[in-house]
Amino acid sequence: MIHYSIASIPGDGIGREVIPEAIKCLNKVAMKYSFGLNFEEYPWSCEWAKEHNGKVACDDLIHELSSFDAILLGALGNPKFLPDHISLAPLVQIRQEFDLYLCLRPAKLLPKIKSPLANKTTEDIDILVVRENSEGEYISAGGVFKHNEPEEIVVQTAIHSRKGVERIIRQACIQAQNRRKKLTMATKSNAMAYAMVFWDEVLEIVAKDFPDLTIEKMHIDALCMALVKNPERFDVIVASNLFGDILSDLTAGLVGSLGLTPSANINPDNASPGLFEPVHGSAPDIAGKGIANPIATIRAAAMMLDYLGEKVASGRLEDAVIQHLAESKLRTPDLGGTATTEEVGNDIMKRI
Ligand code: NAD
Ligand code: IPM
Ligand code: MN
Repeated sequence: MIHYSIASIPGDGIGREVIPEAIKCLNKVAMKYSFGLNFEEYPWSCEWAKEHNGKVACDDLIHELSSFDAILLGALGNPKFLPDHISLAPLVQIRQEFDLYLCLRPAKLLPKIKSPLANKTTEDIDILVVRENSEGEYISAGGVFKHNEPEEIVVQTAIHSRKGVERIIRQACIQAQNRRKKLTMATKSNAMAYAMVFWDEVLEIVAKDFPDLTIEKMHIDALCMALVKNPERFDVIVASNLFGDILSDLTAGLVGSLGLTPSANINPDNASPGLFEPVHGSAPDIAGKGIANPIATIRAAAMMLDYLGEKVASGRLEDAVIQHLAESKLRTPDLGGTATTEEVGNDIMKRI
């Protein structure tokens, strides 16, 4: 029997509530399809930092995680204890040091889920945000001069490499080939004359290799508006790190809740462990109440199985979520119900 080793990092807030539901479902589906999952849990979090000199994760986390087949993460961050740019640094570090440059954030309207947009059906909203995940605006390059003085100057630089921009656009094209053959690139070349003009140029070059696709670019502001007015026109959207981050919360909103949308961080070209997580964060406003929606994390777990090569099991887990939504009345409060995290997790597990 094949075994996969999975590092689980529940993290903070609702991360600790949704990860156990995903693990329950993963164990059930692994039993059904006769493969093994060995989980090792890492308690890295803002809580852990209290006893570890303010560190959210151990210093050699990259070495520690490198031997796993995949990483399943809940969420990090508790702004009451630590500033977010400190508590979230390990997450960005994992993405960058493992070079997990391809971030896939699908947002499809699911059966019996109401979009905040009127009269939308499951046919109308089916968007994949492909986010550049290794460089761009998230390179921590910058500095502060004359801190706390009236003349204070702060610099934060984004870095866009030809290799980085080309490979993410290429991967987005490949995704579009397997979907509805349409790619939209988020740009802002009307204002960002170096970075986004460069993205436009690279798009033109890569597009030549994909004559079967309809490829367009839109300025990020107009793109946000069009997503709300007319989500049907979008299939795959490729974006820089920051634009992709923002767009994927927007598309999560369009399909009803951040509690539904998963995320895969992978490198198709190397052997680093992929990182799978919900798009959402630790949600301190609802943490500890047992009412977080576990579906985004369960669907991230399904993406992890697909990445591990367990395609049938992955499909079964995703289908169990769809069946749950179609047939059960259980809904967590983000979807207008009163069900608990555990009730939803159990119902999905039962349907596997
Ligand atoms: P958030 O995604 O945690 O929450 C935004 C809103 O969505 C909140 O009202 C929350 O209650 C709701 N929500 C999110 N997930 C939900 C779920 N599964 N079920 C029901 N409702 C859900 O974003 P935020 O409030 O901006 O950030 C909170 C903390 O999380 C911050 O520390 C932030 O830096 C961190 N964060 C971490 C990650 C990560 O670890 N990957 C991602 C985003 C934010
Ligand atoms: C996400 C999160 C992270 C990001 C933060 C918490 C660093 O918002 O995964 O979407 O911006 O990438
Ligand atoms: Mn985000």
